[in-house]
Amino acid sequence: MAGINYQLRLVVVLTMLKLLLLLLQGWGSNACWQEERAALLQLKASFNYTSTGEYYGMFTWRRDVDCCTWSGVGCNATTGRVYELKLGGFGSGDWYFNASMFLPFQELRRLSLPSNSIVCCVKNGDFERLSNTIDLEYLDLSDNKLGNSIFPFVAGFSSLKSLYVRDTALSGTSGLEELQKLNSLEVLDLSNNDLNNSTLPLLNGLHSLRILYMSNTQQKGSINMKDLVALFKLEELYIGGNNIEKFVVSKDVEHISNISVLWIENNICNGCNFELESLKGFPNVKTLNLENNILTGVLFPRELDNVKELFLDYSSFDENFLQSLAVLRLLRNLNMQSIHANSPALRSLTNFNTFLQSIENMTSLETLLLRGCKLTGSIHGTRGLCKLINLRELDLYDNNLNGNLPHCLVNLTLLQHLDLTNNHFTGKLREFK
Ligand SMILES: *[C@@H]1O[C@H](CO)[C@@H](O)[C@H](O)[C@H]1NC(C)=O
Ligand SMILES: *[C@@H]1O[C@H](CO)[C@@H](O)[C@H](O)[C@H]1NC(C)=O
Ligand SMILES: *[C@@H]1O[C@H](CO)[C@@H](O)[C@H](O)[C@H]1NC(C)=O
Ligand SMILES: *[C@@H]1O[C@H](CO)[C@@H](O)[C@H](O)[C@H]1NC(C)=O
Ligand SMILES: *[C@@H]1O[C@H](CO)[C@@H](O)[C@H](O)[C@H]1NC(C)=O
Ligand SMILES: *[C@@H]1O[C@H](CO)[C@@H](O)[C@H](O)[C@H]1NC(C)=O
Ligand SMILES: *[C@@H]1O[C@H](CO)[C@@H](O)[C@H](O)[C@H]1NC(C)=O
Ligand SMILES: *[C@@H]1O[C@H](CO)[C@@H](O)[C@H](O)[C@H]1NC(C)=O
Repeated sequence: MAGINYQLRLVVVLTMLKLLLLLLQGWGSNACWQEERAALLQLKASFNYTSTGEYYGMFTWRRDVDCCTWSGVGCNATTGRVYELKLGGFGSGDWYFNASMFLPFQELRRLSLPSNSIVCCVKNGDFERLSNTIDLEYLDLSDNKLGNSIFPFVAGFSSLKSLYVRDTALSGTSGLEELQKLNSLEVLDLSNNDLNNSTLPLLNGLHSLRILYMSNTQQKGSINMKDLVALFKLEELYIGGNNIEKFVVSKDVEHISNISVLWIENNICNGCNFELESLKGFPNVKTLNLENNILTGVLFPRELDNVKELFLDYSSFDENFLQSLAVLRLLRNLNMQSIHANSPALRSLTNFNTFLQSIENMTSLETLLLRGCKLTGSIHGTRGLCKLINLRELDLYDNNLNGNLPHCLVNLTLLQHLDLTNNHFTGKLREFK
């Protein structure tokens, strides 16, 4: 009996000691750890921030208040430790990334430091210590002056799921292969950097990657489908603003990508025409953005009949292209704002009505945007528009259309948004009530 009693007392005393220790460590009245608050104040002092820095919220960082309530600081409600740091836009002068400063944040999972003029890096070995101490899952270093020397450092954070190094003065691909160590990486943003077309082959070990941003990264010529298929979990690829001519498939193997979101907008290949036909290796694409492209002389690939959203704004193409869109029976959104003025496709009414006829079986269509397309003439006939019974939004703003609207429009009972302004239509809309 006495023995059990003694053990019980010992447990109680030990528990109380533990609690006391926790309090002494700093997680007390303020629900904020002393060492973390001190580290935050040190960070604040180190930033070469300007008056705009104050605007972004560091003014709430004062010694006397609970650091978990400070702007940009997120704490774990259970442990009271810093879980997230979002410190953007403080920098004016260069700021050297010093890993030691982040060591106190043992439970840090999400770190955002965009637009801070960060220069990579204070080399004191603490980067390795930091990557061994914290299980970082989200790291945003976009819009800084890092350069390629950032790769070996970030590659140490093996638990990373999202990495944003958009616009970080990367030049060429040296060091990029380090990223292959990031087995858990699901989101990678390399956009707006001066890379080259060796980039994709160097990423082929990223077997968890779902979303890849590679717009404005100097991709030229052909992209090998083999390199995309190697990223077998890839669902979304943003690769606009490059000079891509085509996606090439080796003769012997079939390379089909399972990507469902593909953006190749602003693909200005100098003097070349983007080979739209080469998109046939993406039969599962559901969202396709081809804004601001020159697509004359080509047809829409029949293989892409799963497309639900198609963006063609500011592009130029011709009538055959428009008619080839008829394969898109599942299409829900068709955006063709300000298609290129020189495009003969929609310049005249005749062709516009032909176009409307060619989309008559796209009965899934919910949104049709034809703003500022310089369409002329009147809409006639009951083939075309009136068959699109699921249409919710029809935007014909800023064209030169005239005449009466076809009466059959009454059948579009789901229509919620109809913009006919800046045209020359006649007749009364009342009859459509
Ligand atoms: C907060 O900490 C607890 C205990 O360590 C952990 O189980 C939980 O996942 C953490 N919450 C977040 C959002 O990280
Ligand atoms: C702040 O800027 C100055 C001048 O550019 C630089 O010498 C100093 O190292 C910077 N401070 C930090 C913490 O990077
Ligand atoms: C980096 O941070 C540590 C810890 O705050 C500090 O002792 C050290 O002086 C810093 N190094 C540089 C080069 O600023
Ligand atoms: C890409 O840049 C690296 C240097 O960073 C160079 O070694 C490689 O040859 C370049 N690749 C191409 C296709 O230009
Ligand atoms: C890489 O780009 C160069 C032009 O810089 C081009 O000649 C070459 O075909 C491209 N390589 C691949 C594999 O696409
Ligand atoms: C293709 O992607 C879809 C999601 O877009 C997913 O459900 C499916 O499992 C993927 N198929 C393969 C073979 O990876
Ligand atoms: C739409 O479907 C009808 C009936 O199947 C067919 O006769 C017509 O040619 C189709 N229109 C187009 C543009 O494909
Ligand atoms: C509405 O659609 C039905 C069925 O297609 C058709 O019979 C009717 O004529 C249409 N109404 C008008 C006003 O066109």
